Amino acid sequence: MKSSPLAGFILVLAFASRLNSTAAASPIYEDAAAPLETRVEDLLSRLTLEEKIAIVHADSKFTTAAIPRLGMPRRWLDDGPHGVREDIGPDTWNAAGRTDDFSTAMPAGICLAATWNPDLGFSEGEAIGQEARARGKDIMLGPGVNILRTPLCGRNFEYLGEDPWLSGAMCTGYIRGEQSQDISSCVKHFALNNQEFERGTINVEVDERALREIYLPAFQAAVQQGGVWSVMGAYNQLRGQHCCENDYLLNKILKEEWGFKGLVMSDWDGAHDTRECALNGLDLEMGTEKKYEDYYLAQPYLNLIKAGELPAAGLDEKVRRNLRVMFATHVFDAGRKTGSLNTAAHQAVARRVAEEGIVLLKNEGGTLPLEVAKLKTIAVIGENATRLHAHGGDSSGIKAFYEINPFAGIVSRVGKKVNVIYSEGYAKDGGADLAERAVAAAKAADAVIYIGGLNHDKGFDCEGADRKDMKLPYDQNELIRKIVAANPKTIVVLEGTMVEMDAWLDKVPALVQAWYPGMEGGNALAGVLFGDVNPSGKLPATFPKMLADSPAHASGNAPGNYPGTNGTVTYAEGLLVGYRWYDTKHIEPQFPFGFGLSYTTFEYANLKLIPGDGSNALVTAQFDLKNTGNRAGAEVAQLYVHEQNPALPRPEKELKGFKKVFLQPGETRTVAIPLNRGAFSYYDPARKSWVAQPDVFEIEAGSSAGDIRLHDQFTLAGK
Ligand code: GLC
Repeated sequence: MKSSPLAGFILVLAFASRLNSTAAASPIYEDAAAPLETRVEDLLSRLTLEEKIAIVHADSKFTTAAIPRLGMPRRWLDDGPHGVREDIGPDTWNAAGRTDDFSTAMPAGICLAATWNPDLGFSEGEAIGQEARARGKDIMLGPGVNILRTPLCGRNFEYLGEDPWLSGAMCTGYIRGEQSQDISSCVKHFALNNQEFERGTINVEVDERALREIYLPAFQAAVQQGGVWSVMGAYNQLRGQHCCENDYLLNKILKEEWGFKGLVMSDWDGAHDTRECALNGLDLEMGTEKKYEDYYLAQPYLNLIKAGELPAAGLDEKVRRNLRVMFATHVFDAGRKTGSLNTAAHQAVARRVAEEGIVLLKNEGGTLPLEVAKLKTIAVIGENATRLHAHGGDSSGIKAFYEINPFAGIVSRVGKKVNVIYSEGYAKDGGADLAERAVAAAKAADAVIYIGGLNHDKGFDCEGADRKDMKLPYDQNELIRKIVAANPKTIVVLEGTMVEMDAWLDKVPALVQAWYPGMEGGNALAGVLFGDVNPSGKLPATFPKMLADSPAHASGNAPGNYPGTNGTVTYAEGLLVGYRWYDTKHIEPQFPFGFGLSYTTFEYANLKLIPGDGSNALVTAQFDLKNTGNRAGAEVAQLYVHEQNPALPRPEKELKGFKKVFLQPGETRTVAIPLNRGAFSYYDPARKSWVAQPDVFEIEAGSSAGDIRLHDQFTLAGK
């Protein structure tokens, strides 16, 4: 039927009016196509004072309240850096006892750091982000980037090691990956949370250069390179003010200097005072040990605003930051990513991170990889061969779908061709003849794989307490000595963080550091031990020969340096953390920062320093890297900078770039690592700014902090 012009006109009119009415009914903040700031302001304008208060504090252990009339759902937060934690009961720390809250357990943070592979950081963050969305979460509480200042910190396993540049590079990749899944990461714990001893109250005294050059850069990278949307304040105090309500840290540095636009949340029960929280930069209060309505940013805050003692504009700014994160993660938008759980891809990431994070520390006489054809019996000894770790460590623990322990991984890999016998060797609860039985097993085998180290029991690698020393527990030193005496072909595998090993290291032909390798750890370790995987991990922290060699414990160390006295800990070593200390003080470590062996070898040659084109890079270090062995492998080429005549004291050298390069046998690749002005700069407290002064700089390319292969000089001219 031919429609008349009038009919057409009526049709257009009807559509236009519907459009108008629809437009009138759907506010701007619901329009996913509208600019983010426009949506923020529109929604902010619609909130009542009480609703604004509801947004800036928790209404259960891990949630904030919904605002149904505006279509704002309940917001779910959850731990942690290694995967999505099991659900916790609404108002206690007890598990909720659900059966649908399993997740993929990635290797511990220190293992991810040991990969020195930011792309893998992205993959891990992406996978965790997908699992978080599948579990209905909005903000994930990780990564943890606190610098490893002392080997004794109970949470070193969760973090990314001793160097700010490596920690910054690894957390940036992770955050970008996780936030690509419509989830906000939450970098933590800002800042100076470098020990668990008295963590809730300890006051950290640290000089400004160490703060700026060592303890803050990874957080700055998270904000400025990673684009992180949330930051968690630390429990401790900095210079007498709690970090969750610290004007200098939160307002001056994070928000004003760094331009952070997201939200700052407290650590759980890390808030302490309404006015301090209101005025010093806290935007979301979590976990306070009070009734929710009595939280510092709840009724008490509302009362002070209504009494005109605190500005309502301050609340608006907090709400603005919370809303920004909601819109950035598409909380209101159809089509928000829905994620996935425990996929083959996630399992593959967990395995890859473990494979690339395991560090080969010693391998004499080609002991490794083990050749199955030459073995009839392998003795696997040690409690950690069968012990599961993923669920441990406290808040970063994961209820994993499964966990392949080292023994299971070894049996799965070679059990059909070799007789694999197991002996516990040691147990935390002791055991009468465990050692004797282990020695007998060692004697009966062609090779021994000893799996020991630490675990997530409190007082070892666990949140809430520090280690009391760096020793191997459960008399493992004596056990290892007996086992290697019974069978010289003994490979020692250590799980956990660094320990003293002088009691047996010279007697053991091969040593592998496996950290906490996650749910696929046993398969990854077996891959390394039997040669399917060529290890490429490098230490993200120095392994000192003994605790007294390390900066926070240096001989003559006043207890005030660690763990602190009368509630204050003083970082007397200043900038000299990790290799910065050992290099500058000429103390030989057991294994240096950045160290890790391969089943092949690499050669560095032809270092050229190519002046920048005036853009970002001042100079680019270019050199050839060759795989001089007979099997494919990856080398992490590191670039360190040393200033010859610094105006202020500087460490012997500092990591300012690295590249992980995968090479076939005989292959040579030209590696180029750009250095911008920041690579030459130090923080000058007098000028309150970073300074790169004209000087001669030594540019050093190497395989570890203790193995510099090439060096050349670069003169930084005046402006
Ligand atoms: C814990 C931890 C923090 C964690 C939070 C929630 O005390 O310090 O890392 O994210 O509380 O579990």
